Amino acid sequence: MTTDHRPELTYGTYLKVDELLQLQAARSVPEHPDELLFIVVHQASELWFKVILRELDNLTDHLGAAATVKALHTMRRLNALVRIVSDQLSALDTLPPQRFAQFRGYLGSSSGGQSHQFRAIEAMSGLREEHFLAVLREHGPVPPSVGRALAQPTLQSLFLKLLATRGTTLEQLYLGPGPTAEFLLAEALIEYEQGFQRWRYLHVQLVERIIGPDTGGTGGTLGARYLQHTLRQRFFPDLWDVRRRFFESAPSAS
Ligand code: HEM
Repeated sequence: MTTDHRPELTYGTYLKVDELLQLQAARSVPEHPDELLFIVVHQASELWFKVILRELDNLTDHLGAAATVKALHTMRRLNALVRIVSDQLSALDTLPPQRFAQFRGYLGSSSGGQSHQFRAIEAMSGLREEHFLAVLREHGPVPPSVGRALAQPTLQSLFLKLLATRGTTLEQLYLGPGPTAEFLLAEALIEYEQGFQRWRYLHVQLVERIIGPDTGGTGGTLGARYLQHTLRQRFFPDLWDVRRRFFESAPSAS
């Protein structure tokens, strides 16, 4: 039998609370009273992004193994996490423009557009064009779980493959007599994308509310006008497209 000689574990030592609370280094001098909130919402979002990436990795495995129920379970968690990161943006709705202007200059050229975890989430979810991957590459070696997931087909193609192993198609899922587990999984993926779009929408509204619709971003983009454009991106185009097909030949009600 081995004896653990380490000091007794407490809430603070297990969670490294002291270290965690040292990480909010405001740049404004003297420190602006609202900068702590600004930093904490960003840091908390990055922590949740870390958990989302872990779950996307699990999801990739479950879809690859055609494990529908496990994938459904992971989707429930992912969708809860995406709601959390979206809801916490509202804390910054309490930051008035004139107060943000008092410390924005201290942020230099740092920008959310440089968040490599956000780009990894986008890439793992299905946005794989070069400009999504560029921020990941700039940051250094891509974390192994992200690299592994990127080497796999996208979530959408893994899902379509899963359907093929079940001998069904997207259209059949939606036309069939009753909800199957695969249908629920398709809808959970749609919910994930809808939740992610909600983050984008709440973020662009926040940006417009604080810096206005026509102010450029610290990352050198057109600011809210650039972000509006990102609202049109889709992770699962086929899952959205399947809906249109049911209405193409339907007579118009109006
Ligand atoms: C005062 C509040 C905020 C303002 C004014 C703001 C502003 C902006 C602007 C203007 C951009 C466009 C890129 C640029 O040129 O800088 C951007 C991108 C981004 N921001 Fe924020 N942001 C705020 C809060 C947040 C928070 C709390 C997060 C959470 C992590 C966040 C994450 C991001 C991400 C991930 C992008 C890249 C989005 C994309 O390219 O699709 N932002 N932000």
